[in-house]
Amino acid sequence: MQRWGIVGAGSISRTVVPDLASCRGVEISIVQSRDGGKANAFAQEFGISRSTGDFGEVLADPSIDAVYIATPFATHHALANQALLAGKHVLVEKPIAMNAAEAADLFAVASRMRVFLMEAMWMKFNPAFRRLRDELAAGRIGEVRSMRASFGIPFPAELGSSRWDHARSPGSLLDQGIYPVTLAHTIFGPPVSIHAAGSVNEDGVDFAEHFTLEFEGGRFAQCASGMTEFCDPSASVSGRRGWISLPAPFWARTALDIHADSWDVMFREPHRVELGQEGNGYVPMLREVVKAINSGTCEHAIHPASETIAVFHTLDTIRRELKAKTEPPTPQVPAGQTTSPQLRTD
Ligand SMILES: NC(=O)c1ccc[n+]([C@@H]2O[C@H](COP(=O)([O-])OP(=O)(O)OC[C@H]3O[C@@H](n4cnc5c(N)ncnc54)[C@H](OP(=O)(O)O)[C@@H]3O)[C@@H](O)[C@H]2O)c1
Repeated sequence: MQRWGIVGAGSISRTVVPDLASCRGVEISIVQSRDGGKANAFAQEFGISRSTGDFGEVLADPSIDAVYIATPFATHHALANQALLAGKHVLVEKPIAMNAAEAADLFAVASRMRVFLMEAMWMKFNPAFRRLRDELAAGRIGEVRSMRASFGIPFPAELGSSRWDHARSPGSLLDQGIYPVTLAHTIFGPPVSIHAAGSVNEDGVDFAEHFTLEFEGGRFAQCASGMTEFCDPSASVSGRRGWISLPAPFWARTALDIHADSWDVMFREPHRVELGQEGNGYVPMLREVVKAINSGTCEHAIHPASETIAVFHTLDTIRRELKAKTEPPTPQVPAGQTTSPQLRTD
């Protein structure tokens, strides 16, 4: 029996906890919130035997094997680091950290402590996503040449979403854009060049961006994310003999449409593949995590450290480009001159 602790009694925990509880060989032993009363109410609602307002209590408990960290992502590195150093296996909500350096640091700690670590990138474990990979590998649409994916859904600042808060889960790129970037990396690997543009508010929070990732051989991915308006949250992958679309929301859907084999199928009646959803959709990932922990590995082959960190290098570059394009250029002052030069009149 694996004993799990839940860190954070927020909205995603409410969705994931029933799925984790349904996995064979798992007992959710404790839930932690910064507010002990809230943790207690959460524990009662989800049938968890213990609750606490103290993160340290979860880490100090030798009966807890693994923790699921479901807090705002600015807190992920610090919390995951403490949990790994306490010898716990750790599943961290996406994005696992704020940048590639933080992500690499966590995987180094996990490997040193010989414990399991993974970002909860559930999309990669979803049956439709795995079927997409199988169809591409089998050459169903020929050589894969390009893809398109976007995740634009309004999350109004007035509703208090932590995505608008620099101190909590700042920005749509890390919260939403991580899905198109992860899809692109899964299909093509790391890009050779990146072109990005978007909008950043006065607090430095990005709220809309679009970017093209280019790969060897003229292959490319066109992607977008945003939290002020809709941007068709579907995806499609194209090859020399057709294309496969993942209907909206592409990161969570259980269906895909294969446009291949004949003109008729491509343009009139694509092959629809329907795959079922287990629980709230997180069961396939959680079952794999439980299995991986039991096997003693430190990472999962479907979403390993190398791929997680590579995605962050791309996200880091996109963020740098957004920042460079939204900050006014620094005036170049010649050495030794501290004020603007006077106009010469002679
Ligand atoms: N996989 C998915 O489908 C999915 C969907 C949505 C979100 N997410 C990811 O899951 C993570 C959490 O998202 P969420 O929407 O659940 O976030 P949230 O509601 O903003 O925060 C989750 C909980 O974190 C706790 N918390 C701990 N430290 C905090 C701090 N310094 N400030 C504020 N809250 C803090 C709070 O719980 P207590 O008050 O109980 O301490 C809060 O309710 C994010 O990384 C997000 O990107 C994943």
